[in-house]
Amino acid sequence: MQTVTTVAALRDALAEARKFNRSVGFVPTMGFLHEGHLSLVEASRTRCDVTVVSIFVNPTQFGPKEDHNIYPRDFPRDEKLCRDAGVDIVFAPDADEVYPPGFESFVEAVELEKPLCGALRPGHFRGVATVVCKLFNMVQPHIAFFGQKDLQQCAVVRRMTLDLNLPIEIVAMPTVREQDGLAMSSRNRYLSPGERWRALAISRGLFAAEAEFRAGERRVEKLSAIASRHFENVDRLQYAEFVDAGTLRPATSPLSRPAAFCVAAYVGSTRLIDNVIMSPD
Ligand code: PAJ
Repeated sequence: MQTVTTVAALRDALAEARKFNRSVGFVPTMGFLHEGHLSLVEASRTRCDVTVVSIFVNPTQFGPKEDHNIYPRDFPRDEKLCRDAGVDIVFAPDADEVYPPGFESFVEAVELEKPLCGALRPGHFRGVATVVCKLFNMVQPHIAFFGQKDLQQCAVVRRMTLDLNLPIEIVAMPTVREQDGLAMSSRNRYLSPGERWRALAISRGLFAAEAEFRAGERRVEKLSAIASRHFENVDRLQYAEFVDAGTLRPATSPLSRPAAFCVAAYVGSTRLIDNVIMSPD
C-alpha cells in the first residue's frame, strides 16, 4: 500500500494502473474509519483492480459552529485499517493541497441541497459536491463508492456527476450497523454510555416503521406515528420525513414509489442521521 499526500504523487502512483487499463475504484472518506467505510473498500476491491481511499476532513462542508476542528482523527490507525483491508493507495492531502490560496470555484446541486440536512446545514452540500468533484478529478476513478446512510449526499453526488459529465459510476452501498442497530458513524465516538443507549431510538423508530410497511401499511402518517414513539427518546429531533428516494421531494401518501424515511436528531450534543428505504412492489 502506498500513502500519498500530493496530487502529483497520486498521479504517479496511479500511472501504472492507467497504462495497463486497470479499473480504479475510489472511496472518499474523512477518516476515523469504521466497518461502514470498510464495506465500501470491500465493494471496490470486488469490482475494481485498484482501490484508492482518500482521507480528508473537508473544511468547506462544515459550518462555522460545527465540529471541523474536533472531528475525530487518527491517521496511523486509519492507515493500518486500509492496509489490512487491501487498499492500494491512501490519498491524504492537507487543506492547502486541496484548496490553494485564492480558491473560489464551487459546485452546487441547487434543488437537491434544499430539503433535509441541506435546510439545516447551509453550505454543507456545496462543500461536499465541491470536494467530491475535485477528488474525482484528482483520482479519475471508474467507480466511486458511497454509503446509503448519507442518502442526500448520494443524491447530490449522483446529480453532480451526471450534470458535469463525469465518466464515473456512482455506487451506493447499504448502511452498516452496530449489532443493536445503531448506524455506524465516526461521530458515535462522541456519545457517552447513556447517550449511546438513547441513540438507539433512531434505528428502533425506523425499523418499527419498516416492519409496519412490510406488513402492508402504506400511509405516511401511520408509519410516522409508529416511529415517533421511539423518537421521543432522543434529545432533539430535527426531522423525520418520508421523501421520494430519488428526488428527495416529500413522498406522497399512500406510498406508491420507493421512499426514504430520513431522520436527523441530536443525542446530547452529537448530531446523528439515519434512514431506511421502503419500496412498494
Ligand atoms: P465520511 O463521513 O467519512 O463517510 C465516507 C463514506 O462512508 C460516505 O460515503 C458515507 O456515506 C460512508 N459511510 C459512513 N457511515 C457508513 C455506514 N454506517 N455504512 C455504510 N457507509 C457508511 O461522507 C463523508 O465522509 C464526506 O462527506 C465525503 C464524501 C468524504 C466528502 O468530504
